[in-house]
Amino acid sequence: MKNYKIAIIGLGLRSAGLYNALKRREYVDIVSVCDVYEDRCEAMAKRIEDDGRHRPLTFTDYKKCIDDSHPDMVVISTSWLPHIEICMYAMERGVIAASEVGGAYSIESLWELIRCYERTHTPVTMLENACYHRIKLLALNMRRMGLLGEMVHCEGAYRHDMREEICTGWRKRHYRLDQYIHRNTDNYPTHDIGPIAKLLDINCGNRFLSLISVGSKSVGLSHYAKENGIDELDGMKFMQSDVVSTLIKCQNGETVSLTLDTCLPRYYARGFIAQGTRGLISEDTNCVYLDSDNKGHKMWDEVSGNINLYYGKYEHPLWVDYHPGKEGHGGIDSLQFDDLFRALEYGEDMPIDVYDMATWMSISVLSEQSMATGGAIPFPDFTNGNWIYRKNNFAK
Ligand SMILES: NC(=O)c1ccc[n+]([C@@H]2O[C@H](COP(=O)([O-])OP(=O)(O)OC[C@H]3O[C@@H](n4cnc5c(N)ncnc54)[C@H](O)[C@@H]3O)[C@@H](O)[C@H]2O)c1
Repeated sequence: MKNYKIAIIGLGLRSAGLYNALKRREYVDIVSVCDVYEDRCEAMAKRIEDDGRHRPLTFTDYKKCIDDSHPDMVVISTSWLPHIEICMYAMERGVIAASEVGGAYSIESLWELIRCYERTHTPVTMLENACYHRIKLLALNMRRMGLLGEMVHCEGAYRHDMREEICTGWRKRHYRLDQYIHRNTDNYPTHDIGPIAKLLDINCGNRFLSLISVGSKSVGLSHYAKENGIDELDGMKFMQSDVVSTLIKCQNGETVSLTLDTCLPRYYARGFIAQGTRGLISEDTNCVYLDSDNKGHKMWDEVSGNINLYYGKYEHPLWVDYHPGKEGHGGIDSLQFDDLFRALEYGEDMPIDVYDMATWMSISVLSEQSMATGGAIPFPDFTNGNWIYRKNNFAK
């Protein structure tokens, strides 16, 4: 494997997990780290040194970081807003850009990203680890084997009680609070849409046509702030709906439902469902239901929890003999980097490419527009018609 000099830009909560997934690779050298906060640079540099590696250079300006430390790749784990500009700054200089997840703020910025890639051909990818979940890859494998029949409907959700992280944002220098005060949108669509887009061949023979989003009232965060004595949020009005429901229509006729649910008390869940003419897979009930295996009417709790039977028969090759143990996010952080470095090594397109990125990130913009206007909003075709011919080689 070729050696990769890497700069990590954005050193908040997520950077530790990314570093853990990178550090065991002997072909990776973390040459620099960057954050607008010096103390975070210092903490990460020390951590890397404490692990017996050489101390990386530290920077508070990402441009200087890229220009002066000459990385082969930047791993971007900043807050959402600078993702695209940092990607493009790196790509223009021939530096591979691997960005953490998040939605976009304008469609124009996504076209700029597309044009930057088409001009430079510098690899750019989104680190959407959810595409590597065991059950998502089981669904992809079973779909490719024809076991789910023709796909009709998918569901995904980001159901995560984030009230503490959001409401203490100013105290902890975390970015999400400002987003929830000022915007109303599905601000975090890619964990749910990424695996579904791969399953439905989006941008590869299929595409998203339009979406409509509806938001609930916004009371969860102000209630939480009051109950928990977060005085700086006294009287604060949050734009963000507590629950945002989005429906997408696809070119080939499928529908997709997404839910963002982060402001109310609840258990964590991802709500993934993939449903076709021969059966379905459901993540929250941990089950597969195939016509061929079931006779007569069944209740959900009769089939709930049967998933191991199907992992036994139809496990995706990436998960056969993969036992992640305590690896980050159940092993998906490592799997995504394995797949990314493998693609680079063989000179293949990125497993999650610029067209995936732009399409998935656009949902935050379109959802915001839909809620503001109360109507359906068309998706841009970032492939400019090439979706008709492109092939879905993800995790093949
Ligand atoms: N894939 C996953 O499972 C997963 C999990 C958590 C977070 N994330 C993603 O990781 C990213 C970071 O999230 P987080 O919770 O660590 O946020 P955070 O607020 O804790 O950290 C972000 C850091 O980026 C820095 N930053 C912001 N703008 C910068 C700039 N222009 N230059 C340099 N540094 C800059 C901030 O100072 C901060 O330290 C987000 O995109 C988030 O969606 C992904």
